[in-house]
Amino acid sequence: MANPPTNPLREGLTNRALPEPCTLVIFGATGDLTHRKLVPALYNLAADGMLPPALGVVGFARRDKSDESFRAELEAAARKFSRQPLNDGLWESFASSVSYHRSAFDDPDGYRSLAAVLDKLDASRGTRGNRLFYLAAAPDQFQVILENLGRSGLNKGSNGGWARVIVEKPFGVDLPSARQLNDLVEGAFPEADTYRIDHYLGKETAQNIMVLRFANALFEAMWNARYIDHVQITACEPLGVEGRAGYYDKSGALRDMVQNHLLQLLCLVAMEPPTGLDADAIRDEKVKVLRSLRPLAGDDVFRHVVRGQYGAGSINGKRVAAYRDEANVDPESGTETYVALEVNVDNWRWAGVPFFVRMGKRLPKSGTEIAIHFKSVPPVLFKATGEAVDDNVLVIRIQPDEGISLRMSAKMPGASLRIEPVKMDFHYGTSFGKATPEAYERLLLDAMSGDPTLFARRDEVEEAWRFVDAIRAAWATRSDDLAFYSAGSWGPTEAEDLAKRHGATWRRL
Ligand code: BG6
Repeated sequence: MANPPTNPLREGLTNRALPEPCTLVIFGATGDLTHRKLVPALYNLAADGMLPPALGVVGFARRDKSDESFRAELEAAARKFSRQPLNDGLWESFASSVSYHRSAFDDPDGYRSLAAVLDKLDASRGTRGNRLFYLAAAPDQFQVILENLGRSGLNKGSNGGWARVIVEKPFGVDLPSARQLNDLVEGAFPEADTYRIDHYLGKETAQNIMVLRFANALFEAMWNARYIDHVQITACEPLGVEGRAGYYDKSGALRDMVQNHLLQLLCLVAMEPPTGLDADAIRDEKVKVLRSLRPLAGDDVFRHVVRGQYGAGSINGKRVAAYRDEANVDPESGTETYVALEVNVDNWRWAGVPFFVRMGKRLPKSGTEIAIHFKSVPPVLFKATGEAVDDNVLVIRIQPDEGISLRMSAKMPGASLRIEPVKMDFHYGTSFGKATPEAYERLLLDAMSGDPTLFARRDEVEEAWRFVDAIRAAWATRSDDLAFYSAGSWGPTEAEDLAKRHGATWRRL
C-alpha cells in the first residue's frame, strides 16, 4: 500500500493540518511577550518555511508609533531572542508583512478602523478574510478587547474566512474568574475557535510523552500502579521574580506553574490512551485525570502540600536577595516561590501511586523533568545478597538537554558480584541532529492551522482551578506553614519529609 501523502512543510502530530493564509492581530504588541516569544517564533517559522503562503501581522497597542519604528523595535527583539540568527533578507521579507495599528483597547473606533485595515490586507496580501487574534495584553484588558471584537463583528471572519482567538495565561486567578473569562470568550468565539495557551504543551518533549507511551509496547504495559511506585514532576529555575514582582507577588508558584504547566504534564503522564489523535479525544482523557485528582482541602493540605519562600543566598557564586527584599515585593509577603505537593490520581490505573510535584524559583539549576520510579524487585536473589539494587527510573527531560533516560542495574565486570546502576540515554540533539523548535513556534503554527490539540480546553482549565483553589482556601486559614529556604538550595526540608513519608527521595537534577 502506498504511504499516505504528507506535506513536507508540516510535521505536526497528525500531519493533517496546514497553516492557512491569515492575518495575526496581536493585542499588546509592544509588550514583553511579543518581543521575547511571539516575534522570534514568527521569524523562525518564516526561516523554516513554515508560515502560511500569505500572512499579515498587525500589532495593536496604545502607544504612538509608525510601522517603521514598530518594525525596528521588533527587529531588535528578534536579534536578541531568536533561536536562529537573523538573516537580513529574510527579516526584511518577514517585516514587510508587519504593520502597526494604534488604538486604546476600549475605543470602538479603533476596532472599526482595524476592520478596514484587515479588509485591505485581504485584498493586498491574499489573507482571505481569516483572522487570528492574540490576546497578549495585560489580563485586565481581556474583557474590553473581547467585547469590542464581538461588537465590531471582528469575531467573525470576513467573506467566508474564519476568526480565532488565542488567550495568553494567566487564564483567571481562580475558578470563578476563569469561568467568567470563559463566559466572556464564549460570548465572542465558539470553543472550537478558542486557543488557550499553555506553552508547556508546545514543548517538544511534552509532546513526546504520548509518543513514548503509545508508540512503544514496552512502557505502556508497565504504566500502572502494579509496577510504578511513584512519579516525580519537577520544574526548577535559578531565576527569581525578574521584574515581574507586581504579577508574581499576587500569584505565587501554585497558580503560576502548577495550575497550568505541571498539571498538564501530570495529565499527559497519567491519562488513558485516547480514542484518536484529534484534539477532543486527547483533551477528554486529560480532563478525566483532572477529575480523578484526590481533592486536597482543609488539614490534608498541610500534610500533602509544602509551600516555601526563598531567603537570601547565592546562585552560581552570586549573592542574591531574599524574595521579600526584591523590588515591588511586599516586605511581609507570604507568597510562595516554591511548592511541593503529593497528588493522588484516584482511578483504577493509579490507585496508591503518589505523584510528587514541585516547582521552585531560585533553586540551584534550571530544568524540568518527569521521573517514573518503578517498584523494587522482590527481596530475593540479588537483592537478598545484601547488594544494593537500585530501582528502575525512567526520566523524561522536558528541558534543557531534552531526552529520555532509563536507569537499570548491571553487573560490574569482574570476578565478584557487584551491581551498579547504569543509564540508557537518548538525547534529542544527538539522535535527530536538529534543533528543537520553541514552544511558541509550534503553538502559533497550530492556531494558524486550526489544530487546538496543544491548547487547554475550557473544562481542563476549570478543573485545574478547582483543585488549586481548595489548596489556596486552606492556605488562607494559616500562615505559619510557609517554609523558608536559602536561594541556591534545593528548597525547604519540609519538602524532603513529604517524599520521605512514602520512602521516596526527590531527585537532584
Ligand atoms: C511561565 C511562568 O508561565 O513559565 C514563569 O509565569 C516561569 O514564572 C515560566 O518562569 C517557565 O517557562 P519555561 O519555558 O522557561 O520553563
